[in-house]
Amino acid sequence: MSITHNQRPEGAAVGRSIPHESAYAHVTGAAKYTEDLAGALSGVLHAYPVQSAHAHARLLRLDASAALQVPGVRLVLTAKDIPGVNDQGAKHDEPMLPVDEVMFHGQPVAWVLGEDLEAAKAGAAAVAVDYEPLDALVTLGEAIAANSFHGIQPVIDKGEPAAALAAAPHAFSGEFEFAGQEHFYLETQSSLAHVESDGQIMVHASTQHPSETQDIVAHVLGVDAHRVTVQALRMGGAFGGKEMQPHGYAAVAALGAVLTGRPVRVRLERARDLSMTGKRHGFHASWKIGFDEHGKIMALAAQLTSDGGWSLDLSEPVLTRAMCHIDNAYWIPNIQVRGRVAKCHKTSQTAFRGFGGPQGMLVIENILGEVAPKLGLSAQELRRRNFYVPGQDTPYYQPVRHAERLHRVWEKVLESSQFATRREQIEAFNAAHPNSKRGLAITPVKFGISFNFTAFNQAGALVLVYKDGSVLLTHGGTEMGQGVHTKVLQVAATALGVPLSYLRLAPTRTDKVPNTSATAASTGSDLNGAAVKDACEQILARLSVLAAGELEAEASEVVFADGAAHACGRSVDWKTLVSKAYFSRIQLSAAGYYSTPGLHWDLSAMRGEPFKYFAYGAAVSEVQVSRFDGSYQLRRVDIVHDVGDSLSPLVDRGQIEGGFIQGAGWLTLEDLRWETKGPHRGRLATASASTYKLPSFSEMPPVFNVEFLQDAHEDGVVYGSKAVGEPPLMLAFSVREALRQAVAAFGPAGHSVKLASPATPEAVFWAVQEAQEAREGTGHVD
Ligand code: MTE
Ligand code: MOS
Repeated sequence: MSITHNQRPEGAAVGRSIPHESAYAHVTGAAKYTEDLAGALSGVLHAYPVQSAHAHARLLRLDASAALQVPGVRLVLTAKDIPGVNDQGAKHDEPMLPVDEVMFHGQPVAWVLGEDLEAAKAGAAAVAVDYEPLDALVTLGEAIAANSFHGIQPVIDKGEPAAALAAAPHAFSGEFEFAGQEHFYLETQSSLAHVESDGQIMVHASTQHPSETQDIVAHVLGVDAHRVTVQALRMGGAFGGKEMQPHGYAAVAALGAVLTGRPVRVRLERARDLSMTGKRHGFHASWKIGFDEHGKIMALAAQLTSDGGWSLDLSEPVLTRAMCHIDNAYWIPNIQVRGRVAKCHKTSQTAFRGFGGPQGMLVIENILGEVAPKLGLSAQELRRRNFYVPGQDTPYYQPVRHAERLHRVWEKVLESSQFATRREQIEAFNAAHPNSKRGLAITPVKFGISFNFTAFNQAGALVLVYKDGSVLLTHGGTEMGQGVHTKVLQVAATALGVPLSYLRLAPTRTDKVPNTSATAASTGSDLNGAAVKDACEQILARLSVLAAGELEAEASEVVFADGAAHACGRSVDWKTLVSKAYFSRIQLSAAGYYSTPGLHWDLSAMRGEPFKYFAYGAAVSEVQVSRFDGSYQLRRVDIVHDVGDSLSPLVDRGQIEGGFIQGAGWLTLEDLRWETKGPHRGRLATASASTYKLPSFSEMPPVFNVEFLQDAHEDGVVYGSKAVGEPPLMLAFSVREALRQAVAAFGPAGHSVKLASPATPEAVFWAVQEAQEAREGTGHVD
């Protein structure tokens, strides 16, 4: 199905800089979240988890009798209470409550339902659990050494990598292990369930994937999907952390509601959320790369191992997306990439903005940053020389359409950031300052848009036009702050040719639009926008026949704009027309549908065209590093990013700024740690904001310039726009590479810097020490 009528009329609602549809409600506190809905219900029970005290243990005994004596405790849910299937995972490897074995420290082994939170907590403390501790694999290194893997082990193979590596005049190899990331959405996991009068189970959940929440609730309860309705009002941030993770909590609430006949809420406190939910996967990479005399990549061989945690969750698709992004923006004619998922006794790692793409891209960006000095090239020159040019294809054989945009964003940001001049200034600064050095770096992004798994690339919508001309929209996408609702409203207003004030958007619900995909892979507005547009066009097709009669014209001549239908110089007002349509018995509602055309993907061969298009961007970052403690400041950031013809420029700008900062957090500040020794081995050590450093205002660059690539209409996507949710996160590689440049300036000329990820001040300090030592070794001491 392809997009029709894709040109923007004069004065269209799409492309206007309007605030997020909930902006005022967000800042005044009027916006309601799942948790707030509990206030409207009476007799709501609170659920609180009993968490495992071991990373891996046999569950010997679980005795709830003392808990049931605690005043206010109503019920203790254990595996035995599950009437359907005890499973909350995408791959049926994730018991919702353990039967005989616990798999990570903090895993819920039972849930206590209490009249209030205090009672539930007191009850949870009174549940007696006996464990027999078992050996646990806590680090990625331990899992690799123990050969502990799960799921598929895909391979990308193209050309003759072994022969090309052997023949390469310059070859390098290395290993790189880097950390994952905590989502730290402001609203923690939250669900509220109650049973309606006729046995219909209503679940409100903070979920990116209401249809999957519905499926999992239904199969845990052992009922058909039509008995369960899931509503996702809005989320206070999700970032991939609510694509799979919410289902189990929703099922706990629903099971509690069914068993007690009372509404049940689950809302994780921050420390529970951090210790129980999956995170971005850390990865280990080993690699060999070969270059020709001109610094062009001849071949890459790499093995990627992700730290999957105890169950598969989305680890397989995250891994395949990582593998499909190891090329980032670079043409690699001969390549072999092997992937595998380590199984260990930690939270089950999951989707996180970029869905593995950032991890794959970090591998190649790290390699290029590290080897550029060894090739005698500047990092930016090495990167540019290897860019895709039109006509080339990726390691999985997808043609890189619009590769010229890569060159355009690059040139544009070099110019707008005054890169060349600033580089000279920085060299002068560095020569004059022995204890502080500045670094400037530019990095590119190419990110594939669509779900790798072809079937997920579909969406539905429901558009209802009421007799008074007002319009109610529902679509399958969920709102997590990213602005999909704002964009969909703009799309519908444009398609119908009515003012935005005629429209209202209703919360996402599985009884309005069935079988939806997760709002993920940045496809929310591409897919749901197109489905809404389809529904609007169905309604207009009917209305234009009526309007043609009124306007003495052909139906094909009727144009809808500015709240009226126009043809032959005459007009009929929208509201009048709608009212006439009702009395003429013309259907005023439509279900819209869209499926992305042209996609195909063969997972076993890791070949195909999984992506509708690529999003491109480039960023320049400047940092200053102190020699004595490795502390640094991000001084200036310039970004040029390709959002196609923006549907909603303010929203897109927010996505670019927010994505960038979130990426900078992952790469430079946020340091996930688990206890690896002692009695709490396997426990998340960074289980609060006091031990897990997040970016805040003080880390914002004082100069932050964001520009959209101009003349960037993307054919075949709704009104020429492009997805923006994830790609900007990876613009933050420029921060990491700028740190590398600054550290290198402490070393001898041409010093190659190895940098840990996250490049925290501590990690930067050690890299500076190494650079200083190298300089002293060569006799160049200040
Ligand atoms: N922006 C905000 N404010 N909050 C979020 O949770 N999630 C990101 C991105 N931007 C997120 C966000 C992720 S992981 C994805 S996949 C996309 O938004 C999903 O929405 P979209 O497909 O509508 O862009
Ligand atoms: Mo985003 S990680 O695809 O939810």
